[in-house]
Amino acid sequence: MTSSKVILLVLSFIAHQVLIANANHALVPALYVFGDSGADAGNNNHLNTRAKSVWPYGVDLNNITGRFTNGKNGADFIAIYLGLPMAPPYLNLSDHEKSQITTGINYASGSSGILNITGDGERLPLKEQVKYFSLTATRDLPRAIKNKKELEDHLAKSMFLLLTGANDYFLPPNRQLIEKLGPQQYANLLLDEMTVNIQKWNSIDPTVGYTDPTNSGQ
Ligand SMILES: *[C@@H]1O[C@H](CO)[C@@H](O)[C@H](O)[C@H]1NC(C)=O
Ligand SMILES: *[C@@H]1O[C@H](CO)[C@@H](O)[C@H](O)[C@H]1NC(C)=O
Ligand SMILES: *[C@@H]1O[C@H](CO)[C@@H](O)[C@H](O)[C@H]1NC(C)=O
Repeated sequence: MTSSKVILLVLSFIAHQVLIANANHALVPALYVFGDSGADAGNNNHLNTRAKSVWPYGVDLNNITGRFTNGKNGADFIAIYLGLPMAPPYLNLSDHEKSQITTGINYASGSSGILNITGDGERLPLKEQVKYFSLTATRDLPRAIKNKKELEDHLAKSMFLLLTGANDYFLPPNRQLIEKLGPQQYANLLLDEMTVNIQKWNSIDPTVGYTDPTNSGQ
């Protein structure tokens, strides 16, 4: 798949989501955020890495640290524009909170990339972020949204934001791989891995959450 096709796919997906949104208050039910430090809202606070945003990051956001900016990041502005709360970082949520939140979660992790090898210290590669989202969809959301059909509707109408790829070109192990494979082959590798993970969002079956006996309570 060429990069222009992927971008087109993502843009048309977003346009579709906005158009079908039933907007009394929020334009979409939820915003699920994936990516790197451009979108991380505090997941790396919980990981052993140098890629942490400590004070004075957050100085314009009541000193809440974890975002790689003084204040709100791009994902926050998009959430606010959609009429949603800023998506909270997954790793900062208690089990109880995870079972309550239906307006979106942020899985982004500073220094991560599309590839597993991208990053420094602990981080959540895209694949890992999608794995956490899959837990949200099959374990946590079924606890908050009791009706199977409603959950399918929720996921179909929610917006997925992916802000990643810069670190895949930036860090030394990646530069070695780029040299080895050549730029075109490397770009194809990134596109393939990104496409596989985007497709996973669609292939997750949230209804398994309703048949899992450990979920039958709350
Ligand atoms: C993490 O959770 C704590 C407790 O709820 C909260 O005070 C803090 O602001 C949260 N941090 C981020 C980055 O959201
Ligand atoms: C943020 O932290 C700084 C340094 O500790 C402090 O001077 C400032 O008053 C704090 N601001 C808020 C809004 O808590
Ligand atoms: C990436 O890492 C995950 C575990 O973190 C592993 O399951 C997966 O096989 C790895 N994928 C590749 C392509 O190395």
